[in-house]
Amino acid sequence: MKVLVTGANGQLGRAMVSALHRRGIPYTGTDIDTLDLTDEGAVMRFVQADTPDVIVHCAAYTAVDKAESEPELCMRSNAWSSLFLARAALAVGASLVLISTDYVFDGEGSTPWEVLDERRPLNVYGLSKLQAEEAVRSLMTRCYVVRTSWLYDADGHNFLRTMLKLGKSSRDVRVVCDQIGSPTYAPDLAAFLCSLIRTDRYGFYHATNEGFCSWAEFAQAIFDDAGIHCVVSPIPSVAYPTPARRPLNSRLSKNCLDERGFDRLPPWRDALRRCLMELRLRREIL
Ligand SMILES: NC(=O)c1ccc[n+]([C@@H]2O[C@H](COP(=O)([O-])OP(=O)(O)OC[C@H]3O[C@@H](n4cnc5c(N)ncnc54)[C@H](OP(=O)(O)O)[C@@H]3O)[C@@H](O)[C@H]2O)c1
Repeated sequence: MKVLVTGANGQLGRAMVSALHRRGIPYTGTDIDTLDLTDEGAVMRFVQADTPDVIVHCAAYTAVDKAESEPELCMRSNAWSSLFLARAALAVGASLVLISTDYVFDGEGSTPWEVLDERRPLNVYGLSKLQAEEAVRSLMTRCYVVRTSWLYDADGHNFLRTMLKLGKSSRDVRVVCDQIGSPTYAPDLAAFLCSLIRTDRYGFYHATNEGFCSWAEFAQAIFDDAGIHCVVSPIPSVAYPTPARRPLNSRLSKNCLDERGFDRLPPWRDALRRCLMELRLRREIL
């Protein structure tokens, strides 16, 4: 099996490449510096030359707030590029994994979203990912659509890194407490994707670390586990206006994993501790 990973310089792409490497699975990693996925001709040429068996599509325009003022770029980068990749995958007989998001849901209610629940995104980014899901599913049967949430790793531009930086300079931070979801450690998601692509169990999935929390609880856990003395003041989303509206209920049900015979990912708190351990080993935190 040969795998093509898009977005290989991003949080999930890096984790995916390293998971494949550790398992001895041949792969090609590409990012915008080697292949701009909004260029349909280039995508087709690249995929036809690479001839992967599976494409794991981690690349995306992920600047959720900026997307509100750059809707066309966001749509091209997320929806159109997924369509181009699907066409190229079909041309070479490859299967495709599309990574999608909790932001395809509107965040109403408090029960976890099932994979086939109605999608009603609140922002441009969510809409672009919904259109990516539809483009891929309308063209392909051999595809997996894997929704995840609140991704982080030890290196990316993410909430964990922001809190660690803030914790060094502030004694208290205000963090929203009414958006509930699951922080997801990119290496844990990559390990799941490695199991998934070995199967022909195509379809929709939700894959996040286990358990739910608010951003404020996640921030407090980061400070507690990193030994940082910083107090988290919980605030409602209305007190922290952002260009993009975000869903309040981002709980994703993982029943699909049980039903299709996959292990659930580890609990989010356990994943956080492993990520902080990595930063400690690198001496980036005490
Ligand atoms: N981050 C989250 O919290 C989150 C939550 C749910 C789902 N997801 C989804 O999970 C996947 C991985 O997210 P991530 O956090 O790993 O993203 P990331 O760190 O932002 O990495 C995405 C990579 O894709 C590249 N890219 C953007 N446009 C491209 C294009 N036109 N052609 C080729 N490459 C392009 C980016 O390059 P530049 O950096 O140069 O733009 C970046 O290296 C994405 O599909 C995302 O939508 C993420």
